[in-house]
This record gives sequence, C-alpha cells and structure tokens, in this order.
Amino acid sequence: MSKLRVGVIGAGAMGASHARTLATGVPSAEVTRVFDMDTARAKQIADEVGGAPADSPESLIAEVDAFVVASPDFTHADLAVAGVEAGKHVLCEKPLAVTADDARRVVDAEVAAGRRFVQVGFNRRFDPGFVSLKGSITDGSVGRVQVLHGIHRNASNATSTDSSTLVTGSMIHEFDTFRWLLDDEIAGIRVESPVADGFKDPQIATLWMRGGQMITAEVYVNAAYGYDVRVEVVGDAGSATLEPRTPVVRRIAGQGGSSIGSDFVEHFLESYRLELAAWADASLRGEVVGASAWDGFAANLVAASGVRALTEGTRETVAVPERPALYA
Ligand SMILES: NC(=O)c1ccc[n+]([C@@H]2O[C@H](COP(=O)([O-])OP(=O)(O)OC[C@H]3O[C@@H](n4cnc5c(N)ncnc54)[C@H](O)[C@@H]3O)[C@@H](O)[C@H]2O)c1
Repeated sequence: MSKLRVGVIGAGAMGASHARTLATGVPSAEVTRVFDMDTARAKQIADEVGGAPADSPESLIAEVDAFVVASPDFTHADLAVAGVEAGKHVLCEKPLAVTADDARRVVDAEVAAGRRFVQVGFNRRFDPGFVSLKGSITDGSVGRVQVLHGIHRNASNATSTDSSTLVTGSMIHEFDTFRWLLDDEIAGIRVESPVADGFKDPQIATLWMRGGQMITAEVYVNAAYGYDVRVEVVGDAGSATLEPRTPVVRRIAGQGGSSIGSDFVEHFLESYRLELAAWADASLRGEVVGASAWDGFAANLVAASGVRALTEGTRETVAVPERPALYA
C-alpha cells in the first residue's frame, strides 16, 4: 500500500517534532507539505523531512491525504472542521478548541458527514507508562478506584501564559487522562491557586467523577526545576503510581539523585511516535483511533467549567450532553 501523504500545519516545537517523527519513525507515512505563518520556518522543516512548503492551509489540505494541526490553539477548531469537510483525516493537537462551543462545531461537522476524521493529540493515551497505569485499573489489581492524584509541571511554558490558558491548554491533558483512565465523565470541578493576583500558577483542581471517585490535579507551568508528570491511582486493594523517568541514580560527593529533564518533547517522544504511527495506520484504513472529537469536546467542557470555577471561586458542575451514536 502506498504511504499516507501527510501535511503539517504549524512547524514550531510540536509541529517540527511531529514532522521529524513522521519522516523517520512512521514507515506508513511521508511528510509532503508543511505550512507555517513563518514561511522560512516552514521551508526549513519541509527541506529537513523531504517535503515542500505549502502556500496556505487550504492548499495544503487539498494536496495531502491527511494532516497534522500543530499551530496555536485558537486555529485548531477551524482547521479540524476544514479537514472533516474535505474528507481528510486530521491529527489535531490538543486542545481541540479553546472553547467548548468551537469544539462542538468539530463534533457537529463529523456528525453531519456521518463519519469520523479527527483524532485529538492527547498523546498520554499512547505513552507506555500511562497504558501500563491504566492496565492496573482494568486488570483489577488496585481494586475499586477511590482517588487519583496528578502532578503536571513544566520548567517554563510559552503557550499557557495566563490563568485561563493554563486550564484550557495545559490542565486539559489531565481532564482527558482521568476520563480515559476511569472510562467515565468528570461531573464536577473546583480550581484554586495559592496566587491571589495576576497569573494564577500553580493551580490545584479538585475533580469529581460521575462514578464518585475524587481527583486532585496540580498543574504548575513555571515550576523552574524541570518537566515532571506523575499520577497515582488509589484503589481499595492497592495503589499504582506512574513515576517520572529516573534511569540512573548517581551518588557523588555526598549527594545522590537523578537528573530531571525540562523538555516535554523529549519526555514524551516515544508516545508521540506511537500516536502518529497509530494515526497514520488508522487513516490508511479509513478509521480513527485514540481520542475522538467527542473526547476533545468533553475535555473542553471540563476546561470551561474549570475556568469558571477558578474565576468565581465556586465548585462547578460539568454538564455533558448526550453522546451522538457516531461516538458510541
Ligand atoms: N500534545 C502535547 O503534549 C503538546 C505539547 C506542546 C504543545 N502542544 C500543542 O501544540 C500546538 C503548538 O504548540 P508549540 O509548543 O509547537 O507552539 P510553538 O509556538 O512552538 O509553534 C507554533 C507554530 O505555529 C506557527 N503559527 C502561528 N500562527 C499560525 C497559523 N495561523 N497557521 C499556521 N501556523 C501558525 C508559528 O509560527 C509557530 O511556528 C499548540 O496547540 C499546543 O497546545 C501539544
């Protein structure tokens, strides 16, 4: 079978990484077009991966079999809808949209088309550590899950730059992770911060699942010391913890410890490769795997409630409407 001809829209940190991974680590795909508002950047990455720069997102969509959206968050929903309307498979980086209304437009476009085309880039669903953590829930080893604790820290962050985008752009990973781990919807959320004025970073979310479990999630996007993602699942038969990667512990001159990286791309590179490979293979079969547009919309609904909770100091209910049959 011939390779999937892929376009990449947005060639910044994430888009360049995805383009390189597709070119070197996904045998079923080739990157044929790259678009970025920064045309020099698009040409540089296109040259690197053996493709050509595109003149516009529209021409890119017309010239490829499928495309990756890795441009800023506010561009995602329109590009995903354009992909659905053109009948092209889309791997849309998270979040699917900035607002739940915009994410709903993507769902509605797929429902109108009667087919799914969009996978949302919630890469943790492909991360071997997260898959193993989910296994400890589904195989029953931790028993009935009661509580989850999540930690998500960046050394610094150029895209989550205010109190709202921390929720809609960063904490949204946690919302999808918890929905996916427990295969359930988030029913309520409270978000608080020790920072009284200005950019509320860090933030602590308390979440309630429909099934009754409670979750805490700390997201701190300027934690300075490094990139650190951890989750603990606590059940009535035990606990399972996804620890940070600590390959080598050094004991030197009276000190012991391991290094902590600061680059999220490096940390999750294998999960991105597995995500892109699964997406390309599924696209060639005309299928969608991973997080759906519905999952993206559900995460955006939680984020919208989270922003309200943070702003108003309230506990907010998350009202998830009936799931269309397309996403059964
Ligand atoms: N899944 C993950 O783990 C993960 C991690 C980081 C970022 N992301 C997401 O990936 C996306 C890109 O993030 P990033 O860190 O690469 O940001 P970035 O700022 O490094 O790159 C964004 C790129 O998009 C280009 N651009 C700006 N406006 C554009 C437009 N209208 N059309 C096309 N290109 C445009 C910029 O020139 C830049 O090259 C964001 O949506 C972000 O939320 C996902």
